[in-house]
Amino acid sequence: MIEPKTRATRARTLHLNVNGKRVAAKAEPRMLLSDFLRHELGLTGTHVGCEHGVCGCCTILYNGVPIRSCLMLAVQARGSRIVTVEGLANEDGSLHPIQQAFLDCHGLQCGFCTPGFLMATYAFLKEHSALRMTDEEIRVAIAGNLCRCTGYQGIVRAVRQAAQTMKK
Ligand code: FES
Ligand code: FES
Repeated sequence: MIEPKTRATRARTLHLNVNGKRVAAKAEPRMLLSDFLRHELGLTGTHVGCEHGVCGCCTILYNGVPIRSCLMLAVQARGSRIVTVEGLANEDGSLHPIQQAFLDCHGLQCGFCTPGFLMATYAFLKEHSALRMTDEEIRVAIAGNLCRCTGYQGIVRAVRQAAQTMKK
């Protein structure tokens, strides 16, 4: 077992950009990025479900690319640009069109999976127009995220509404 003093000695200060702001915080070498975001930066919107890269709850953007933050060490993210679900809403507190769409279309129930779906949808809609996609194609696009509550129908509608709103 590592003594607390040794652990503290091994911690490194990481500098990175999170949701448009420069931050610096300490992380031990084996700390997961998901835990770093939640426990060191207080960004608890990034949820942790499986911690095995299966559920997608912990999805964030890493240098513009959606990743599962439970599969990456915090120290690997040194110097990177991170966007978490807290970075979606506008500064005045109004919801991002994707968040509004999930609300309007009943794309959530318990909400545990929702941050991951929002970030996966955000990454997807940055690269694609879902306007002409079939429901099946949208389902494939969000297939990396699991929801145990909704049956996905509302989520598919939300992705489509968000695509339409963001196109305007
Ligand atoms: S908590 Fe990361 S994929 Fe499930
Ligand atoms: S809303 Fe409960 S797991 Fe998706």
